[in-house]
Amino acid sequence: MSQPLLFQPITLRGVTSRNRILISPMCQYSAIDGLANDWHLVHLGKFAQGGAGLVMVEAAAVTAEGRITHGDVGIWNDAQIAPLKRIAAFLKDNGAVPSIQLAHAGRKASMQRPWYGNAALDAADHARGDLPWRTVAPSAIAMDEGWLTPHALEAAELAELREQWRRATLRAVEAGFEFAEVHCAHGYLLHEFLSPLSNRRSDAYGGDRAGRMRYPLEIIETVRAAWPAERPLSVRISSVDGIDGGLQLQDQIAFAREAKARGVDLIDCSSGGLLGSATAARIPRGYGFQVPYADEIRRSAEVATIAVGLILHPQQAEDVLANGHADLVAIGREALFDPNWPLHAELALGGGSGEVFASWPKQYGWWLERREPGLRKLDGPPLPFRKV
Ligand SMILES: Cc1cc2nc3c(=O)[nH]c(=O)nc-3n(C[C@H](O)[C@H](O)[C@H](O)COP(=O)(O)O)c2cc1C
Repeated sequence: MSQPLLFQPITLRGVTSRNRILISPMCQYSAIDGLANDWHLVHLGKFAQGGAGLVMVEAAAVTAEGRITHGDVGIWNDAQIAPLKRIAAFLKDNGAVPSIQLAHAGRKASMQRPWYGNAALDAADHARGDLPWRTVAPSAIAMDEGWLTPHALEAAELAELREQWRRATLRAVEAGFEFAEVHCAHGYLLHEFLSPLSNRRSDAYGGDRAGRMRYPLEIIETVRAAWPAERPLSVRISSVDGIDGGLQLQDQIAFAREAKARGVDLIDCSSGGLLGSATAARIPRGYGFQVPYADEIRRSAEVATIAVGLILHPQQAEDVLANGHADLVAIGREALFDPNWPLHAELALGGGSGEVFASWPKQYGWWLERREPGLRKLDGPPLPFRKV
């Protein structure tokens, strides 16, 4: 039987992933002073033990101002390297490509953690000690009523911020990450430059599409230059804004083409978020609802893509790859539901080496393999997750 594409290794520049499953970056809002901690180690470590090919650390803020919430992981100072290094080493030791997303929240910074309301910080947060901070953006346009009006970044500040992205990238290298992603999606800073709804600048960084793309492309160039040539780089985009007058797929195809020309290896195709959470965008959400974006961008911009969003079933993930819609699939919330999703998917699709538990960590697989023949003789319903 031929090996499902999902479980065939893939080499990106000098980095080989054991399969084509990426665990999507997911903020845990559980850091203090931007320092990753044991929560992050265990949260991410489970996914490596669970068989994922690549495991991505959540949006790591390149400046303190660029955090979404007080609980975000940061990569803006050297003290933040050590805990990230521990995570990267654990991921690698357990067979996954250690990956990290670099981010700046722009005008969507200074927010409540989701469980405190998921909106701008209010009096209840201030009482808890979560004080607001200055937010920055391409233009001084608040995201919505009740949100802080951001400071419009001046030319000198843009240059300074480019330097912060460069230093953050060097910290990611030092921490041992092998795959990095620049966050240009979900209404955060770089997306705010791209969208005509949030970028009303009259200088070279605004105006037409080329002007609006200029700063995100400069950041991509900066990161690419600081990121080792043998390590792959992706860019996450909101493929469409899903709002009248916002970004259309054609705009983002043009951006993907420019990003590729600057050494980006993959475009991670998400959507929405400019005027609220990505999930709140007016984009119908069905199984794999963003896969058509990954497909179109892959074809039109001739760049490798990552498909993400409500990919739940192993066969669904396999079809995305087998039909040529994307090169990697990213699993988000379903991995929270089942951190062993890749190992279970392999059992369900009949992939791997043919030995049922060969891909499992030996600490688990040794036992499970010996239990299996006996289980198969038991009366009762079919065994969960197994193909036969
Ligand atoms: C708890 C949580 C945190 C998230 N944090 C990030 C993040 O840090 N960066 C990002 O680009 N997307 C983030 N997302 C979006 C996911 O990466 C993913 O794109 C989205 O959940 C859709 O995929 P899914 O249907 O497989 O969950 C987050 C989603 C969740 C549920």
